Amino acid sequence: MIALKNEKEIKKIKEASHIVFLAHEAIKKAIRPGITTRELDKIGEDVIRANGANPSCKGYPQGSKNPFPATCCISVNDEIIHGIPSDRKLQEGDLVSIDIVADKDGYFGDAARSYVVGGNNPEAERLIKVTEECFWEGIKNAVIGNRISDISHAVQMHAEKNGYSVVREYQGHGVGFEMHEDPGVPNFGKPGRGPRLQEGMVIAVEPMINEGERYILEGDDGWTVYTEDGSLAAHYENTIVITKDGPKVLTMD
Ligand code: MF3
Ligand code: CO
Repeated sequence: MIALKNEKEIKKIKEASHIVFLAHEAIKKAIRPGITTRELDKIGEDVIRANGANPSCKGYPQGSKNPFPATCCISVNDEIIHGIPSDRKLQEGDLVSIDIVADKDGYFGDAARSYVVGGNNPEAERLIKVTEECFWEGIKNAVIGNRISDISHAVQMHAEKNGYSVVREYQGHGVGFEMHEDPGVPNFGKPGRGPRLQEGMVIAVEPMINEGERYILEGDDGWTVYTEDGSLAAHYENTIVITKDGPKVLTMD
């Protein structure tokens, strides 16, 4: 069941999304060689709590024997998603991906960013740039009357045209009343499939793009997802709402 959101609800989702944006901005400023991923996680958590919101990933899923233990998913180099913050120190040239969900008053926003630590890693910079472009190419199709897989297809085409591959085991999702809602938003597939996009649909579009092959490995911690071939991966995600005037991105301001 796809839960459409009304204007009032979208305002509340925007509030949560804005806090996710603020957390990303604070972390971006703090990223430098030598900082640990746990320190970055704390910066994100502090921003979220200071704004009266809740770090949705911490303790998720409820009742699990192995819930996610932190605020931010922080994934480095060949880690694609769901990396657990730790005492690992970031190094010059690392590719770091940060995924943050916050909820306030029962409304959720979700966004991910990838960065090169320090600078001077053109290979990683190009992967990040193309991953961001995949998001924008995808949401060009996020217009009323299109179908979900029109987004998916555009993401896949742009990644593969650039010599990269798309992770298939994880996907975007509806968001807003919960962290994960219907519909799923794959990053690959034929166009013209899946639910039709309607006004008031709120979705997280989140290309996960590998430099090498698309295959993944699941880590022993029960969370971290790696590229099978050890190549770099990047992740870029925003929460968007489908409107009569096209897609509106909620997690960029
Ligand atoms: N931002 C992630 C997503 O897009 C949230 C999963 S992190 C978890 O699905 F730890 F909460 F699982
Ligand atoms: Co998401």
